[in-house]
Amino acid sequence: MTKLLFVCNWKMAPENLGAARTLFTGTKRLARSWRKGAVVVCPPAPFLGALSGATTSAFSLGAQDVSSETATARTGEVSVAMLRGVGAKFVIIGHSERRALGESDALVARKTAAALAGGLTPIVCVGEQVRDEKGSHFAFLHEQLVASLKGVSKSRAKNIVLAYEPVWAIGKTYQSALDAYGLHETTIFLRKTLIKLFGRAVGMSIRILYGGSVEPNNVAALTSGTGIGGFLVGHASLDIGMLRHMFRALS
Ligand code: PGA
Repeated sequence: MTKLLFVCNWKMAPENLGAARTLFTGTKRLARSWRKGAVVVCPPAPFLGALSGATTSAFSLGAQDVSSETATARTGEVSVAMLRGVGAKFVIIGHSERRALGESDALVARKTAAALAGGLTPIVCVGEQVRDEKGSHFAFLHEQLVASLKGVSKSRAKNIVLAYEPVWAIGKTYQSALDAYGLHETTIFLRKTLIKLFGRAVGMSIRILYGGSVEPNNVAALTSGTGIGGFLVGHASLDIGMLRHMFRALS
C-alpha cells in the first residue's frame, strides 16, 4: 500500500499555545510509531512558529490558509514566504469554511498558484454542498475543481494535494460521513478530471485525500479500495484518544 498522508486540521482550536503544544506533542508521539504514512498538523497561524522546531519529513506543519499576494499592503493576510519562514510545508486552500466566508474559485486558484510558486504544497479543497439522486454533485465538482486549479501549469500540478470534502459530511460523526462506495465513485470522477486537466501521468500522481467526519469507526473502511491517499481530519484530530484509535485502525 502506498503511504498515507494524514492531515490534522485544527481549525480555530485549541484556545491557547499551551494546549496547542500538548496536542502537538501527543500527535507527534503517535505519529512516530505509525508506520503507514506521514502526518501533517495544521494549527492556527499564531502557533506555527512555536511548534515548528520539532518537525521531521514524516511529521510536518501546514497552515490553514495563505494570501495569494506578495505585496505587503494586505492587512490581516499571511504570505507564502512567511509560512515557509516559520517551517510550514503545506497549506490548506479553499476549505469550505473559507469558501463560506466568500472565497471564490478564482481566489483559490490564485492562492494555489502562489503556494506552488513559493514552494508550499497546497492541499486544495473541493466538495459539494448537497447530493441528490440525479448525481448533480458531479457537475458541481467538475466545475469547482477546474476553476480552483485554473492557471496551474502541468509541471507544477504534480505537487498539488487534492482534498475532497463533501460539505454535508463535515463536522458530524462517522455515521454521517460518505461511505466507501460513494467515495470510490467520487475519487474515480475526480481522477478523470485531473487527467483531463493535466494529462495521464500527472493526473494519476496527484494525491486525493478525503475529509468529512473521519473518525476511528470509519477510517479503515474509507481507506480500502476507495482510491484515496489519506485524510483531512477536523474534530477527531483534536482528540488524542480518537487519534490513537485512528492510527491503530490504519496500521
Ligand atoms: P471534520 O472536519 O473531520 O470535523 O468533519 C474536516 C474538515 O473540515 O477538514
